[in-house]
Amino acid sequence: MQDPKTYQEVSNMQKRDLEVILKEYQSEWKHKDARIMDIGCADGSATIRLWKKYIPQNFKTLVGSDKSLACVNFAKKHYESEKVKFMTLDIEKEIPNELKGCFDHVVSNYVFHWAQQQEKSFSNIYEMLAKDGKCLIIFLGNCNIFENYRTLSRTSTWNSYIKEVKTKFMSPYHDSQDPETEIKNLMKKIGFRDISVKVHELSFDFIRGIDEFSDMMKCLNPFEGLENKWEDFIADYVQLDPNASTIVYQLLVVSGKK
Ligand SMILES: C[S@@+](CC[C@H](N)C(=O)[O-])C[C@H]1O[C@@H](n2cnc3c(N)ncnc32)[C@H](O)[C@@H]1O
Repeated sequence: MQDPKTYQEVSNMQKRDLEVILKEYQSEWKHKDARIMDIGCADGSATIRLWKKYIPQNFKTLVGSDKSLACVNFAKKHYESEKVKFMTLDIEKEIPNELKGCFDHVVSNYVFHWAQQQEKSFSNIYEMLAKDGKCLIIFLGNCNIFENYRTLSRTSTWNSYIKEVKTKFMSPYHDSQDPETEIKNLMKKIGFRDISVKVHELSFDFIRGIDEFSDMMKCLNPFEGLENKWEDFIADYVQLDPNASTIVYQLLVVSGKK
């Protein structure tokens, strides 16, 4: 994601969902000197305004990480402090040795549906956790946006732009009949204990309607060249789904212990 400034203004759905879950998760944090890694922090505002707000305030370090250098630079400039740092990290790739075994909590909000390498990503979390460390990973399963993009990818107008919709955009669990069992089995195989996978059926209405939906999707757009055709693309999207400003989705809330 290359536009952290705009993301900050249009990420109301991501922030609403995170706050609801954090209110329920309060008792799970290490009480003192916690070391926390937030994967896919984007502009850093969720790291600072939500994760940092809900963790015990005597934490030791909070590290926000993202694969996008533009995001990390933005977050550093606006939010870095003595105990809060930001760094580049791609959770689907090999992680540096100095991060292994270093965190009491590894957390992530609205990132793991982008990760096609699910096993590598969950293994990396396991590697980064210290013994008895916990993860909390929140991301999308089935979602009407993925289905609408897939339908548009099959049209002659949009195929050349978004033909890689499955590998570049859709959640690996969009078509899963049982994401709970799939994720539990994967985490068990890696070595996690006390695994919990909850599937929440949710919806979100954008206050500014289609315009706000369009701004969010443009900001998250991973398809080269599509930004030049954005107005036409959104017009076709809305024709396909007249309720486009309502997102209907499964939110997967995953936790486990090393
Ligand atoms: C929708 S934003 C979520 C931001 C923030 N966590 C929140 O709650 O608002 C997704 C972020 O994940 C990052 N991302 C996507 N794939 C990633 C990966 N493999 N490793 C690290 N970050 C990734 C993107 O660059 C983007 O900034």
